[in-house]
Amino acid sequence: MFERPRSGERCLLLHVGIGRPCQEDETEEFSALARSAGAEIVGEIRARLPRPNPGFFVGTGKVEEVAALARDAGAELILVNQALSPSQERNLEAQLKVRVLDRNGLILDIFAQRAASFDGKLQVELAQLEHLSTRLVRGWSHLERQKGGIGLRGPGETQLETDRRLLGKRIKRLKAGMERVVRRREVGRRERRRAGLATVAIVGYTNAGKTTMFNALSGARLEAKDQLFATLDPTIRRLSIGRGEQALLVDTVGFVRELPHELVAAFRATLTETREAALLLHVIDASDPHYEDRLRQVEDVLEQIGASDVECIRVYNKLDRAGERERRELAAAESAKVGVSARTGEGLETLTDMIRTRLNGRPVRGQLKLGPEHSRARAKLFDWQAVRHEAPDAAGGWTIDVELTARRWRELCRREGFSADDVRNHTRHKA
Ligand code: GTP
Repeated sequence: MFERPRSGERCLLLHVGIGRPCQEDETEEFSALARSAGAEIVGEIRARLPRPNPGFFVGTGKVEEVAALARDAGAELILVNQALSPSQERNLEAQLKVRVLDRNGLILDIFAQRAASFDGKLQVELAQLEHLSTRLVRGWSHLERQKGGIGLRGPGETQLETDRRLLGKRIKRLKAGMERVVRRREVGRRERRRAGLATVAIVGYTNAGKTTMFNALSGARLEAKDQLFATLDPTIRRLSIGRGEQALLVDTVGFVRELPHELVAAFRATLTETREAALLLHVIDASDPHYEDRLRQVEDVLEQIGASDVECIRVYNKLDRAGERERRELAAAESAKVGVSARTGEGLETLTDMIRTRLNGRPVRGQLKLGPEHSRARAKLFDWQAVRHEAPDAAGGWTIDVELTARRWRELCRREGFSADDVRNHTRHKA
């Protein structure tokens, strides 16, 4: 359904800073997004405004400057780094005689190109149609020559000519489909919980190396592309975390600053996986000079989707490419961060150990008194290699020094009706 990019579409970028000049990393990010959509950047213009102008977003002088450059450079599309209202987009197009797309439209276009699975396509189509439904009224007559291309791919192209009623119907159908996806995912999560498998979700700025990390940790072979947003569908694999234990690893979508709200809503099913995970691996590209900024943006998105309370390990990736300074900083490892290279495998064992420790909680150590009726619990403890010392007592029971993971201790409590009071000198040691 989604048309392939018309690669090399000639685009002019308009970077607008509101109340301050555009930061270098913001303009770089926007250019990377544009290239990711298949754009050939033929020119860039910067503007600084105290506040957006209701008519054209920028002032009329800037519109003239853009028009002149667009003409000279032969631009087919103007990409604006801010969110435009439908009327601002329409006014600019009428004035510039070239198609105009805002940041949200651009990101939606990239998602439309990358969505691979049924769920992903459904989510993107819904987001695109909702974005388009507010823009249906525009006068397209001045742009009729242009067909396809960035922002016109996907369902929009066929739906643009249909009326609002049909669009509304399609949106309703997609929403019903989405509800089914959400329910199916919920059932999946319940089943995983019942199987006692914890979920570890990989999150991170787009292009940080999430898919490569997912592959390296789980042994799966997904496609890792040096493009933004290569990953749109969460994929789930079993993850061996050592000592015969397993968890589930979920790859999620790439984050970007100020993820458009249409996408946050549409990717609800995917993002719920993140919110409900037992542990997050926040993958950070340590070779990116702007990684600290990106890291904060991901944390903002996590907050936005209600996942900021989930335990998190910061995984500084691409260490093979990082500078000496980053390496030295990361060598001083704290419990919540680790430096790795998903490409060379460096540091992945340490990461796996950290995942295991985090999932299992701090070990429980202490003395347990078992009566003769507890022989099953005793066998279990031996099975788990949790017995440090054992002495039989006169009543036919045992006094056992145990050391086991918090998760296994909880399991024992549930099965055998023990409580924390049953472990004398019960201590929890920092792992
Ligand atoms: P999105 O799906 O766009 O969010 O990207 P992602 O975070 O899943 O990144 P992906 O795994 O696709 O990797 C992006 C690029 O970084 C690819 O070209 C990878 O080969 C490269 N890469 C990933 N990990 C490493 C690493 O440890 N070292 C180096 N040098 N490159 C890496």
